[in-house]
Amino acid sequence: MKKLGLNELRKMFLDFFESKDHYVRSSYPLVPENDESLLLINAGMAPMKAYFMGKETPPNKRMATCQKCIRTGDIDNVGITARHATFFEMLGNFSFGDYFKRESIQWGWEFVTEHLQIPQDKLWVTVYEEDDEAYDIWNKEVGVPADKIVRLGKADNFWEIGVGPCGPCSEIYFDRGEKYGCGSEDCKPGCDCDRYLEFWNHVFTQFDKDENGVYHPLPNPNIDTGMGLERIACIMQGVGTIFEVDTIDHILKGVCEISGAQYGKERKTDISVRIITDHIRAVTFMIGDGVLPSNEGRGYVLRRLLRRAARHGRLLGIKGAFLCDLMDKVVEISSDAYPELREKREYIRKVLNVEEDRFEETIDQGMEILKGYMESLKEAGKNIIPGEDAFRLYDTYGFPIDLTKEIASEEGFAVDEAVFEKEMEDQRERARSARGEMEGAGWKEDVFASLDPAIKSEFLGYETLEVEAKVLAIITEGGISESISEGEKGIVILDRTPFYAESGGQAGDQGIIEGENFLAEVEDTQKGLNDRIHHEVFVKKGKLSVGQSVKLSVVEEIRMATARNHTATHMLQTALRKVLGEHVEQSGSQVNHEKLRFDFTHFESISKEQLLEVEKIVNINILKSHGIEVKSTTIDEAKKSGATALFGEKYGDIVRMVKMGDYSTELCGGTHLENTAQVGLFRIISESGIAAGVRRIEAVTGMAVYNMLNHKQQVIDSACTALKTKEDNIVHRAEGVMQHVRELEKEVEELKSKLFSNSLDEILGNKASVDGVDYIVQRMDGQDMDSLRANADKIRDKMASGVVVLAGAEGDKVNFVATVTKDLVGKGLNAGSIVKEAAKITGGGGGGKPNMAQAGGRDVSKLDEALSAIPGIIKAQIK
Ligand code: ALA
Repeated sequence: MKKLGLNELRKMFLDFFESKDHYVRSSYPLVPENDESLLLINAGMAPMKAYFMGKETPPNKRMATCQKCIRTGDIDNVGITARHATFFEMLGNFSFGDYFKRESIQWGWEFVTEHLQIPQDKLWVTVYEEDDEAYDIWNKEVGVPADKIVRLGKADNFWEIGVGPCGPCSEIYFDRGEKYGCGSEDCKPGCDCDRYLEFWNHVFTQFDKDENGVYHPLPNPNIDTGMGLERIACIMQGVGTIFEVDTIDHILKGVCEISGAQYGKERKTDISVRIITDHIRAVTFMIGDGVLPSNEGRGYVLRRLLRRAARHGRLLGIKGAFLCDLMDKVVEISSDAYPELREKREYIRKVLNVEEDRFEETIDQGMEILKGYMESLKEAGKNIIPGEDAFRLYDTYGFPIDLTKEIASEEGFAVDEAVFEKEMEDQRERARSARGEMEGAGWKEDVFASLDPAIKSEFLGYETLEVEAKVLAIITEGGISESISEGEKGIVILDRTPFYAESGGQAGDQGIIEGENFLAEVEDTQKGLNDRIHHEVFVKKGKLSVGQSVKLSVVEEIRMATARNHTATHMLQTALRKVLGEHVEQSGSQVNHEKLRFDFTHFESISKEQLLEVEKIVNINILKSHGIEVKSTTIDEAKKSGATALFGEKYGDIVRMVKMGDYSTELCGGTHLENTAQVGLFRIISESGIAAGVRRIEAVTGMAVYNMLNHKQQVIDSACTALKTKEDNIVHRAEGVMQHVRELEKEVEELKSKLFSNSLDEILGNKASVDGVDYIVQRMDGQDMDSLRANADKIRDKMASGVVVLAGAEGDKVNFVATVTKDLVGKGLNAGSIVKEAAKITGGGGGGKPNMAQAGGRDVSKLDEALSAIPGIIKAQIK
């Protein structure tokens, strides 16, 4: 057999199916679009579910891909064995209601025997036990002898993964030879031993499985095949494990270089080397597809993989961050097939850096703490780590629960997951109530699903804001309805509409629907199933019925204000890239008629100067009056013109490209202006960091800037009136006033101190005594704590032995200061307790040292009462 590299194999497969009239498209991103059932793409067919189910039309009835996939179901075994991996590539050919079993089987055989030239005597096939049709094709048409076709049951030859398209399947196996076998006479595909390796699964997709486990027949039978690229590479390269395949070995060698580890010598080392090798592939591709580390969903998967790899780096003795260097190895070896890796390399590096550095700060401490937990549990004869401790490791030291579990299990410990989960839930609850989240009533999804699929809305809002249309459906709180009347709220679907439904971060349009004796306000517009546009209405007058003709009008002012903000968002992105660098990627945006919000990746804070520069570039380009051109084109053409494709977006063949002169080109479905000059003016109102490596800018345009300027002018005018000056002089004047205030304050302080010195004799004359202890209690209002303390010191210095308590109101609060001479401290007197008790009477507290203390109170009206209590307090303290 000819030895073939992994990259070469991928190309051969795709070329082969191109020659069979398949449309070969590049891998879909790892992040699924419009598929709540899936965190990450886990099979070649996963991004195409809508095509299989007939919900969307594929660009071609025959397609072929090499799809990036992640499966984490077996993650605990990754590294432990040399067979498991989280990241892999899947080759697949697909038919959407076009060819079926015959072609799929015949082409599969042709590719394997003629192109890969695998000797036929090494090949076996399996079919689903009841599938005589597939059996006959293999046997009679392809010529596979009957003793090499095995019928297997549902467990082996019926393919399904979660919900969605599935069906019986037929698999091609490679016989690795007797030395891998179990020796049993009956050893053949289906046997548990390692001899027969399944490498190409042909699924005859006939059903759609729902959440309840019910199989619904699909409108057309389809073909979905999947061949693990790493696995076929093992076969073609004559190696026993995926870690020896050329491209993966390249990364594995990198791990050994960085760590100094030797692969193949010691089991423990090998496990760590394999874990890092596999995980770095997964995280590089995930970050490249826009996943950011977080504590939930796919962000959690990423964080877990990354931190697990980091920990195994530690076990191999690597000091400091190392994942970035390995990421380069992944990019080197895979970027010809996945150019996005090369394009996003610097971005991936930054995300990795931030996450690894962050974990670096806590990993050692966390590991120590976990070790400590386990040691003390061992001493106590226990082996369950309490959930609270696991939560603390997670919350404070960034240890994903799965990492804690893994480390614990290596030492024979388990984790109390129920309590951990409860702690997590409590934390979520705290976060929810902090956000003040409310559960909305919501419209039931199944009501919309039950509408006739022929009910669709044509969107005309790019060209016009007013349209005559017919009502196709009305949904109220009660469900599908024939009509809606005055005072009611509901959703109206029409055959055509100028209303833009919220998408791509742009808010839905608002406006009115009117007809004979009828008027409703459209408060919001949202996308529905099946290309429907939902108008969320409140009926102001009359009654509207299905079938009626009405006039729809979008409020132009709101639409234009929104368009200004949307156009400005594109302009902002370009300016950010110019000022901060090409790593800036959009990670979310929200545009409505009031303002725009743009989230993007950037890993440092942004200086005031940079922000001003960004704002200036946008405004200069507004003034350049770039014409805005919207063009429908193919994705490849759009990319060639420099359009920025957004993360994870699944574009059909034709995309909408929005071009603003030579300044900005982006793919976008939103409504824009005709010329950048219509933005008017652009102004940033805030900039902040919202997550590790993600920042947010909010800005306004057009009339909102005008209104903001007006408001600022009013503030300036009021300040001028208050300062009795003109605008030009306002700063000078304010500085002068502040200088004057400082001088006056100084003068007041001096006068106060003089006044005090003058009255010192009088104060000393107020000396009294209790049980032989001299004391002076004096009320002094309008003094801050510092001057009260200075005065108390001065009085005490004039007394050989005694207690001084000064107190006074300062605004609406009360200040207390007490000092006690040394000899009396020896007698049990304590300044701290004296002020504490006195302050209590005025609703406050405080304390300090036995010889000097201060306290504050809140109730000025109780001050005299507090002062008269002092002699009693002193008396009680004397020993
Ligand atoms: N979807 C099938 C699989 O993943 C081809 O095995």
